[in-house]
Amino acid sequence: MDKKIDTTRAWPKGYEPVEESDNDLSVRLGLMTSILNKKTEKKLNTDIFKVMATRRSTRKFSTNPIEKWKIDKILAAADTAPTAGNFQGFEIFYISDKDTKEELVKAANNQSYVNTPLVLVFCMNPSRVKLDFPAKVIMKFSMQDATLAAAYSQLAASALGLSSIWIGMFDEDRVKEIIGTDLRPTSFLCVGYPIKKRPAKQRRQLKELIHVVEKKD
Ligand SMILES: Cc1cc2nc3c(=O)[nH]c(=O)nc-3n(C[C@H](O)[C@H](O)[C@H](O)COP(=O)(O)O)c2cc1C
Repeated sequence: MDKKIDTTRAWPKGYEPVEESDNDLSVRLGLMTSILNKKTEKKLNTDIFKVMATRRSTRKFSTNPIEKWKIDKILAAADTAPTAGNFQGFEIFYISDKDTKEELVKAANNQSYVNTPLVLVFCMNPSRVKLDFPAKVIMKFSMQDATLAAAYSQLAASALGLSSIWIGMFDEDRVKEIIGTDLRPTSFLCVGYPIKKRPAKQRRQLKELIHVVEKKD
């Protein structure tokens, strides 16, 4: 955990970071509180396999806002993802301003559905990955860290009855300018309530996907 907090960054209200000591368990406990103890709904879908099997990307969102407790869970879920060496080689930019969301729409090839109630931009932060490996490996690790975190948030959003669209098509340099960072953005996760719930998309047969490697003679 970095002890120094970047005071030049703007944080959405309620998400301002606090300085923690290295052995302060409150970070982990705060995370667990967000996930486990905050308000929940009876109809919450907590069967992880059902969440996976029913998740469907959405590009038509209602303008209904997302409850703060759900946003907390989505963010906390990202922080439960595994990361290389547990160095958490990624950052999340929580876009709270509507003009910034519109700028991100433009930077993403005018994909208008980027402008959702909750927009998160996941970025690589390889400088956090303090492993003695070649730079190429460190880059790969932080790319995977950022991607996994976004995937965890996406599943959490589905479990909370929300829908999302993962955005990978954008002008990286423009996004860096918009959110004010040198870090490489890997994906946006745009979340909201779907106008219509649709069934999950088809996939290829599992047996086509899985390649069993057997012992060579
Ligand atoms: C790496 C990646 C990049 C993607 N980029 C975009 C994108 O820029 N715009 C978009 O509309 N959807 C994007 N998607 C969403 C996919 O089109 C969608 O996940 C896919 O069609 C499967 O549908 P499903 O999520 O409902 O299963 C992306 C998904 C991934 C994983």
